[in-house]
Amino acid sequence: IQIRQALIEDFTGIQNCNLHNLPENYQLKYYLYHALTWPQLSFVAIDSSSKRIVGYVLAKIDEDSEKPNTPISGHITSISVMRSYRKLGLAKKLMKLSQYNMKAIYNAAFVSLHVRVGNQAAIALYQKSLSFSVDHVEKKYYADGEDAYSMKLIL
Ligand code: ACO
Repeated sequence: IQIRQALIEDFTGIQNCNLHNLPENYQLKYYLYHALTWPQLSFVAIDSSSKRIVGYVLAKIDEDSEKPNTPISGHITSISVMRSYRKLGLAKKLMKLSQYNMKAIYNAAFVSLHVRVGNQAAIALYQKSLSFSVDHVEKKYYADGEDAYSMKLIL
């Protein structure tokens, strides 16, 4: 499995992976917006034999943090790994690469993300493996009414 920066031509594969793995889906133009605006922050995992995208992290610089006198911060918009490729360390690697470039390229002070309060696998990834902590709860953040943890990691 190869991991590399996401390219424009990867975005239908990323959209496909997202549709398989998460109820939060986006229009292709939102993926392209990420790739065109912050090309160094999104990464893909590709199965070398099938050439299919089996995981991705889609990330950005928080637009609100681009205002003057606000610390620059990164934001993980979405991450997922196809079921049969899970528990191999791919998500952790994808996150680390994005976080590294947030700091190295944009000098981001921290990275934030939202996760469903019931998403135990993702919460373990963020808290145990990557040392994120819960900043606050956002009530009914998701379309179905589930709350989100807003998580943060100082870079
Ligand atoms: N149960 C408990 N802990 C888990 C699980 C699980 N099922 N899966 C991963 N973890 C934790 C462990 O702490 C693991 O560390 P360890 O290997 O030392 O035990 C750590 O996460 C790293 O695991 P990875 O192998 O890197 O994670 P993986 O590649 O399997 O991907 C992911 C994890 C992305 C959460 C995957 O399960 C997935 O795609 N789920 C569906 C989509 C999803 O929930 N995405 C996140 C939504 S929030 C957002 O996008 C901002």
